[in-house]
Amino acid sequence: MKFFVDTAIAEDISELNDYGLLNGVTTNPSLIAKSGRDFKEVVAEICEIVNGPVSAEVAALDYEGMMKEGRILADIADNVVVKLPLTLNGLKACRQMRSRGIQTNVTLCFSANQALLAAKAGASYISPFLGRLDDINLDSMALIRDIRAIYDNYGFDTEILAASIRSGNHVKEAALAGADVATIPPAIIRGLASHVLTNKGIDQFVSDWEATGQTII
Ligand code: E4P
Repeated sequence: MKFFVDTAIAEDISELNDYGLLNGVTTNPSLIAKSGRDFKEVVAEICEIVNGPVSAEVAALDYEGMMKEGRILADIADNVVVKLPLTLNGLKACRQMRSRGIQTNVTLCFSANQALLAAKAGASYISPFLGRLDDINLDSMALIRDIRAIYDNYGFDTEILAASIRSGNHVKEAALAGADVATIPPAIIRGLASHVLTNKGIDQFVSDWEATGQTII
């Protein structure tokens, strides 16, 4: 499973990239607003940090506007993926961008039929939002399983990008359900490495080692 980090904070991206844990980055208008930075400037900086796809979302909702903005975003760097909302206009823009060799991430997916349309439109990634489905008591993992089965039935190459991840359990369940990628907030990525028994074991080993009085170097 590939890991993308879901943030526009360059310091977090650099840190996680240095651990070798990142395959890409996703941003959205809310994350850009939270960063307090200029959109195009921060996308350019992220694209230099990470050697992988970086999703940058259009603001327009009309087809022409999406195409214009998408071209500007795609020109920022070779690894920009243009993020488009799952609407009929977004799907039309997705199809056009595919024919022009621009990578796309179709976002705000909440149903298997929406994911089927995105694959038919040639999306590089489809982003089902897990946490937001769970928030309204719907089964987000059933959605991932359904999309996986549909894409496998027809050999679609669109990658399933599990988004709106709220916990380590979401990551594990999405991996079991066959998502190709998970886009994860920085704190949750860090938390995946942590276990109470790992910490307890380290404390024990440190104290036992100190008691030997030995050094390795
Ligand atoms: C990523 O591409 C999405 O925009 C993001 O995961 C949404 O997460 P949220 O539902 O926590 O805002």
